[in-house]
Amino acid sequence: MLLEGRIGPRFQEEAYRVLRSNLLVVLSDLERPTVMVTSSDAGEGKTSTAVNLAYSLALAGQRVVLVDLDLHHPDVHRWVGIHNEVGASDVLLDRRPIDECLQYVELAADPVRPRGLYVMGTGPRVADPAELLGMRRTSGMLESLAAQADVVLVDTPPVLLVADALVLGRMTAGALLVVEAGRTPVAAIEHAKDALIRNQTRLLGVVLNKFKLKDSPDSGYGRYGYYGDGYGTPYGDDSDGALSANGPTVVGLSDDHDRP
Ligand SMILES: Nc1ncnc2c1ncn2[C@@H]1O[C@H](COP(=O)(O)OP(=O)(O)OP(=O)(O)O)[C@@H](O)[C@H]1O
Ligand SMILES: [Mg+2]
Repeated sequence: MLLEGRIGPRFQEEAYRVLRSNLLVVLSDLERPTVMVTSSDAGEGKTSTAVNLAYSLALAGQRVVLVDLDLHHPDVHRWVGIHNEVGASDVLLDRRPIDECLQYVELAADPVRPRGLYVMGTGPRVADPAELLGMRRTSGMLESLAAQADVVLVDTPPVLLVADALVLGRMTAGALLVVEAGRTPVAAIEHAKDALIRNQTRLLGVVLNKFKLKDSPDSGYGRYGYYGDGYGTPYGDDSDGALSANGPTVVGLSDDHDRP
């Protein structure tokens, strides 16, 4: 993981670069630069993908805001090393203005080309996250953040466990769906994809996380791309049904990961 300007394993860094450039291509066609990161189930790598992708984008000079809207399992603050005493729930409950809830995370102190990003943690816990996120104030907050950034990345809970991501999807340009190689059943991916599309959320891409080369031929995920070798393979033509609709882009992230 690319923490505090520390560069992770070269191939891991390269995989995030591929994900970054694929995302930037997709974003250039979208009205809003707001992308949510989700998955079908818990623990598949949503937060680590959101954080690493945000870092990769910021290091490339993009103005990035990373928002933790996983109000069930707040975790972004831990990954990036900020406090979570104030955050999104304060904005959504009208307790604080947005600016007071953004924390700057510096990645490179270079005075000529400083690199960093703004991060908003979840803030204090709330009783009913889905209800709060469904309020107009949430889309207003995301629009305000988008007005100040090139990319807004939103960490969310799993699609199949709680309603939050489905509520948020409509307020974003689309979703990146993280899939854990060798663990997420294809049926769960299909369910998550269908639920997102039914809720007017565009599936922008699929991130195959914790990927091992041994997972490749018979993984059940169909064709996929891996850095430097056919990454970004569209699934639109697949006949096996796995991830077949909507032409998501797939990027593999290897099973080698620095933890916070
Ligand atoms: N590519 C990877 N290789 C190895 N371990 C990984 C990888 N990606 C994530 N992990 C590990 O898997 C665990 C879950 O990752 P993460 O917290 O990002 O998942 P999550 O989907 O956000 O989970 P939750 O649903 O609980 O919020 C963490 O311990 C993380 O370090
Ligand atoms: Mg998480």
